[in-house]
Amino acid sequence: MTNKQTNKQTNKPTNKPKTTKLLKREDITDAARALRDGELVAFPTETVYGLGAVISNEKAVKGVYAAKGRPSDNPLIMTVSDLEMAKRYLEPLSHRAEKLIKAFWPGSLTLVCDVIPGTVSDSVTSGRSTVAVRFPDDPLTTTLIKEVGEPIVGPSANTSGKPSPTTAEHVMHDLHGKIYGVLDGGTTNVGIESTIVDVSSGSPFAILRPGNVTREMIEAVAGPLDELSVDPAAAPKAPGMKYRHYSPTKPVFTIDERVNEWQNAISLTDDRTALAVPDSLLKSLAPSVADSDRVIYQLGATTQNWQHRLYDVLRDIDDQPTIDQLLIYLPVDNPANEGYRNRLMKAAHGPFVKD
Ligand code: TXA
Ligand code: MG
Repeated sequence: MTNKQTNKQTNKPTNKPKTTKLLKREDITDAARALRDGELVAFPTETVYGLGAVISNEKAVKGVYAAKGRPSDNPLIMTVSDLEMAKRYLEPLSHRAEKLIKAFWPGSLTLVCDVIPGTVSDSVTSGRSTVAVRFPDDPLTTTLIKEVGEPIVGPSANTSGKPSPTTAEHVMHDLHGKIYGVLDGGTTNVGIESTIVDVSSGSPFAILRPGNVTREMIEAVAGPLDELSVDPAAAPKAPGMKYRHYSPTKPVFTIDERVNEWQNAISLTDDRTALAVPDSLLKSLAPSVADSDRVIYQLGATTQNWQHRLYDVLRDIDDQPTIDQLLIYLPVDNPANEGYRNRLMKAAHGPFVKD
């Protein structure tokens, strides 16, 4: 008798895996009810998909950490459907914070603010005196939160350490069987997570995580960011940034914009090495790959296009049996490219070097 059969016969109560529902626009009421009942529901935003639980339900919030396999010292974002909802939980906002909100909400800017003591549980904030607040630019999700009637937590809806999900299918891939449902809003627009800025009192006015809302855009609205003295011993301000992130299982190496570097890399690797290149390089490289069966991911023409494609490409290489590794474009370091470079450099092993 095999072990499998023995287990069957013991007839113990099992933690039966759930069937995760793919929810559509017309299922919002079902999704809101499920959240209010303490279930976990993933939701679309303009950046990446989030994993929701009502903020007041401690058990559900703990379930979010469990479903993602997320370390408990990594606080969660509070996702709101309007500024009034946010203000129920926040100490009075600084002038600077108000300006940023006026300019960028709803949108992909998350603000770390002082929380009114006792209004948000320690399992959301990891015991901090601040909470990260986000008002996403996605009518489906803001309608959902309005129906729920209170904020929902919203970490990215991926298994911890993997690239964030930009489609409902990505969420299903990571969390199927672990959550009640995924509200399907199609492919997300931005493709990388929101910019996080600290506007809490007594902290430097600083970007904790770069994103689509750039340093230049923030400074144009709210004045210069503080210079940060780099103390390697200091705990990272956004705790999540210390973990290895966004990584496929297969190795990823970066190459800059130089055509000859790409040509060289192509000559040193075989068809099982996939390429992810911007439109500007595609034409120049066409002759070098003309006779090969390599997978070539086209990233598009602008930073926005590369960001939009990045996580889908990083996820796809793990699913393709014909791919062993990926060579991907790393653009020059300028303010517009900061978010894309930050995520890619966390996912990649480093620059491609010939041995
Ligand atoms: O675009 C986004 O922000 C997405 C979508 C779903 O809204 N959410 C997202 O959440 O990226 P998450 O949990 O994957 O990343 C949130 C980051 C983490 O690095 C966390 O450590 C940091 O925000 N964070 C949360 N609360 C914080 C706080 N009070 N102070 C500093 N950092 C905080
Ligand atoms: Mg995340």
